[in-house]
This record gives sequence, structure tokens and C-alpha cells, in this order.
Amino acid sequence: MGGEEKYREKERLALVVSLLVASLSLVSLLVAFSYYCYIHNKVSKRSKFQQRLANEEENGFKNLQAVSEKGLRVFTLKQLHSATGGFSKSNVIGHGAFGLVYRGVLGDGRKVAVKLMDQAGKQGEDEFKVEVEMLSRLSSPYLLGLIGYCSGSNQKLLVYEFMVNGGLQEHLHHVSGSNAISLKLDWETRLRIALDAAKGLEYLHELVKPPVIHRDFKSSNILLDKSFHAKVSDFGLAKLGSEKAGGHVSTRVLGTQGYVAPEYASTGHLTTKSDVYSYGVVLLELLTGRIPVDMKRPPGEVVLVSWALPQLTDREKVVEIMDPALEGQYSVKEAIQVAAIAAMCVQLEADYRPLMADVVQSLVPLVQRRRLIPKAHGCSNYHATESPAAKESCKL
Ligand SMILES: Nc1ncnc2c1ncn2[C@@H]1O[C@H](COP(=O)(O)OP(=O)(O)OP(=O)(O)O)[C@@H](O)[C@H]1O
Ligand SMILES: [Mg+2]
Repeated sequence: MGGEEKYREKERLALVVSLLVASLSLVSLLVAFSYYCYIHNKVSKRSKFQQRLANEEENGFKNLQAVSEKGLRVFTLKQLHSATGGFSKSNVIGHGAFGLVYRGVLGDGRKVAVKLMDQAGKQGEDEFKVEVEMLSRLSSPYLLGLIGYCSGSNQKLLVYEFMVNGGLQEHLHHVSGSNAISLKLDWETRLRIALDAAKGLEYLHELVKPPVIHRDFKSSNILLDKSFHAKVSDFGLAKLGSEKAGGHVSTRVLGTQGYVAPEYASTGHLTTKSDVYSYGVVLLELLTGRIPVDMKRPPGEVVLVSWALPQLTDREKVVEIMDPALEGQYSVKEAIQVAAIAAMCVQLEADYRPLMADVVQSLVPLVQRRRLIPKAHGCSNYHATESPAAKESCKL
């Protein structure tokens, strides 16, 4: 009996061991298979890309100088691949909702920014179409120029003039992940940027028929060239406005948190005054150096507009909300004027907000006055805490 028991015990052990060996081999087989699939996928993706480039090379010569009926250059994927060093990571200068943005150099030596659309589907495709359509019929020194595009079945790319100082947002606020060098913007530069951006919106609202509503006006969509001249960018969400005076178009609410006008957010009614509200938010960013919605701030200070609005019309308080990065180097009189413009732009009642032409008219004298003051005179940026006499001597 004892011998039979031992024999059964051995039989059970052998069964367990063989089961163990079998499952281990199955697992290793599965691992090997998944690895094979992964490598195969990678190789076939790469060869598909190479194939596309090769196909384009065949037609490339034809396309080399291709210009669409809209007057934009039509690029091949191969041309943009080589312009951006093979879409190399070291050339990435930003990442937005559309996709990655690369620095690039065209064959003729021109510097460009290339936006490569994420494979995101309809929203991205629509934005691509609107951007190309809009920018091909708009032309202003205050709008970012679209040089051309590449539109394959799988890849959509936009090619813009390169703005060496990047987005305004990066200079006003620390943007995590951004590799742009952020520079402190002095008061004079902030005033000029405010005026350039206002002229960009004035052009869209008042000089184009029917008017164009930008719908995504914000500090990251104001780009700066080497002399810090500003241009408005990103028309992917733009809409043609109503031609009726005070009329609106009804549309899905899109835009960026903190910049969207309250009546547009609650009713979907879009007018040029929605852009005026967003412009007011950017003015507040220029004045205070704060971001439109900052969850890290104490309650009551989270939403920039709600926090700043009651203080904008109080001359004493304006000085308290100014950006500490300015270190007091601004004209209090001008700051009060800009704060008053911002207050009008962000008011709840859309009809009472100014036209962008009014904003331009209010800012022009501030910027022109500064041009007349030679920098060496030392008065172009007088200290906010200087004595009244010193301030007086700097007044024009
Ligand atoms: N033409 C350009 N020249 C130089 N830098 C650019 C240019 N276009 C974009 N950039 C850089 O890329 C960044 C991302 O731009 P992008 O427009 O894709 O996204 P965003 O404006 O931050 O957000 P959103 O997608 O919501 O508009 C910008 O902040 C800017 O630094
Ligand atoms: Mg943008």
C-alpha cells in the first residue's frame, strides 16, 4: 500500500512539473510573438514612410515650384522632411492642439515654422482647411503669414513664416516644456505688442468683408519677430461673422479656457465682440503677468478677469496689480489708461465693449509718444515709485 502511495505521489509531481514547463513555454512563445509583431509594425511603418517619400520624389520635380490656386506654395512631404532635419526632435519648437511645431529651413534658405498635424481626425482636418482658406484671402502685416502647406492623404502640414521670439505667452509666463528663451518684456515692448495685436484684430473685424472672428485669440497665438513686432496667428477656429451690424452667428463653443467671452460660452452666439473680450484678457496678462486661469492662486484670484476687474478703474489699485517682473519700470499714467481699456473690453455686456478700431485709436498715442522720447533720455520707462517731480519732468 505504502509503495503504491509513493508511486502516485511521484506521478502527481511529474504532472505538475510538466504543466509548469508547458505553461512557461507558452508564455515565452507569446512574448516572442508580441516582440515580433512590434518590430514588424515598426519596420512596416518606416518603410511606408520611405515609400511615400520615394513616390513624392518621382513627382517631386513637378511639385517643386507648385503653387496652389490660392497663391500658397504646395510642398511635398520630402521637402518638409528635409527642411526640418527629418522632423528631428531637436527642431521641435512647440506643441499645440494641432500637433508638433518644428523649426525648418527651406531650400532657398528661408526660415519657417512647420506644423505637423497629429493623426487626430475630423477636428484637425477642419482646422487645417479653415486655416488655409482664411489665410489665403487675408493679408496684413499684423497677421502671421502662411507660406504654404502639404496635404497628403495621411499627412497634413502647414508652413509659416518663422517668428524668432516665439509666442507672447512664453515671455509673460513660465511655460512648462517650452524650450523658448523667455525674456522679460519691458513696458514699452508690451505697449507695442498690445497695439500690433489690436491692429491684427481690427483688420479682421473691420477691414475684411464679411468680418472674420478669430475665436481663439490668446497670448500663445501672438507671435513675436526678432524686433518683438507682434503678429496674430492660428485661424483654425476662425468663423465668418454676420454682415448685419450687431448681428451674430450661432456656433459650437470652441476656444481656450479663460479667454472665452461669457455670452458666447453660455449661448453660442458669436460676434466680433467675443474677440474683443479675449483681447481684454490678453491686455490683463500684459499688465499683471498672470495667466487667465490659475488654480494655484487663492480663491478669489483664480480667474484673472474676476480678480482684476474691480481694481482696474481704481487708480490706486492699478499699481498693486501690475506685473512684479516690471519692477516698477512703467508709466503709471499709461498703466491706468491701459487698465481702463482692458476694463471696457472684458465687461459682461458685449454691446458696451469697444470696437477694435477704438482700442487701436486709444493705444496709438501711447506708443507714438514713446517713439518721440529718445531712450538715452532715460524717461522712456520711468520708475512707478519715482517722485512726482521726476515723473513730471518726463511727461510730454
Ligand atoms: N510661426 C512660428 N514661429 C515660431 N514659433 C512658432 C510659430 N508657430 C508656433 N510657434 C511656437 O509653437 C508653440 C505652439 O504653437 P501652437 O499654435 O501649435 O499651439 P498653441 O498656440 O500653444 O495652442 P493652440 O493649439 O491651442 O493654439 C507656440 O507657442 C510658439 O512657441
Ligand atoms: Mg497657436
